Amino acid sequence: MMRISLLGSTGSIGTQVLDVVERLGGRVQVSALAAHSNVELLARQARRWRPGLVCIGDASKVGELREACGPETRVTAGADGWIEAAAIESALKVVIAVAGTPGLEPTLAAIDAGKEIALASKEVLVAAGHIVMRRAAERGVRIIPIDSEHSAIFQCINGEDPASIETIFLTASGGPFAEVPKEELLRVTPERALEHPTWRMGKKVTVDSATLMNKGLEIIEARWLFGVRPDQVRVVIHPQSIVHSMVRFVDGSIIAQLGLPDMRLPIQYALLYPERVDTGLPRADMERIGTLSFRPPDEERFPALRLAREAAQIGGTMPAVMNAADEVAVGLFLEGKIGFTDITQMVGETMRRHVQGGGATLEEVLSADAWARRTAADLAEEIAIAN
Ligand SMILES: NC(=O)c1ccc[n+]([C@@H]2O[C@H](COP(=O)([O-])OP(=O)(O)OC[C@H]3O[C@@H](n4cnc5c(N)ncnc54)[C@H](OP(=O)(O)O)[C@@H]3O)[C@@H](O)[C@H]2O)c1
Repeated sequence: MMRISLLGSTGSIGTQVLDVVERLGGRVQVSALAAHSNVELLARQARRWRPGLVCIGDASKVGELREACGPETRVTAGADGWIEAAAIESALKVVIAVAGTPGLEPTLAAIDAGKEIALASKEVLVAAGHIVMRRAAERGVRIIPIDSEHSAIFQCINGEDPASIETIFLTASGGPFAEVPKEELLRVTPERALEHPTWRMGKKVTVDSATLMNKGLEIIEARWLFGVRPDQVRVVIHPQSIVHSMVRFVDGSIIAQLGLPDMRLPIQYALLYPERVDTGLPRADMERIGTLSFRPPDEERFPALRLAREAAQIGGTMPAVMNAADEVAVGLFLEGKIGFTDITQMVGETMRRHVQGGGATLEEVLSADAWARRTAADLAEEIAIAN
């Protein structure tokens, strides 16, 4: 029996994790659930799964949550509550499904407590991959990716010598604007950016998919997870989203992992690794799919890939700065305060203003993250004045 703590249970990944747990019919038990603000859904999940601990990030809502859960459920709140949920004794595995860097400190707490990690939150590795991977290696903790591309790579290299990896090909659907000319990108609205052609996801990751920043973040995620250089990770546009990623080995052979675009498959793999079981998930019908196509991305229209490669090469605090500026910019775009192409412009300008230094410690990473958020917010005001 596997017991998990699920951080980010009310999100797109979190709810799909619970769907998989349901399908596994009692093989996985829930020790703790944590979310940020959605009391109603969190309380419903708590009543269904009866975890030992439920945590709400927004401490102002703890009373409401206690009332909704009833006296038999232990309820905590705030950053300390998240750490408690991450390190809860009864869980063997901690699923990190938080949107953005708030997942970083709970991930480190779970590693320190010796829990296996099932990781969806790519931002955790983008901001502090060097710290997280070192800590996991020191504690002998395995990190199993949930992101579909990284789950695919994990499966492709299973049992292979890591030194035999030549190139990782991260596939990208291209997002809703793959064919849209540069001038039209200036007029893209949040509603249009939220219409992803193949995946249903949370808002931040959907907008990141539209700017291709998601793929940029994934380049950095891959280099840490699989111990490769950033220049060994390449992006290919694959509109069908059937090949979830590929690895070319030193002998020239390429291994790929295929399946329907359904996050429940990599989630189930991460929960049960190394076991595979049939839980009735829909199958890819290869005869019907017919064509699988691949082409290089257009970095002129989508500069996010270049920015991410630059951040990866510079290293230190630069990836954390890029990631934080992107979180701010995407938030402002969703509020209608900046345009679609302003997102990568703001990220690029924040990176340009960043005086690189340090980055070896968590404090340095968090301080660079805070600096980038302030700088990006200032830039947004400059954009608003200019418009
Ligand atoms: N969705 C996908 O298909 C997909 C695929 C691959 C990778 N990922 C990655 O998985 C992660 C989660 O994505 P998602 O799409 O599931 O996001 P989402 O739907 O926006 O859900 C985010 C979760 O994080 C919680 N949260 C939000 N702000 C928080 C804060 N400040 N502190 C702590 N928790 C906070 C939310 O709680 P409340 O709802 O209670 O506020 C919710 O439970 C992201 O890193 C994303 O890149 C997602």
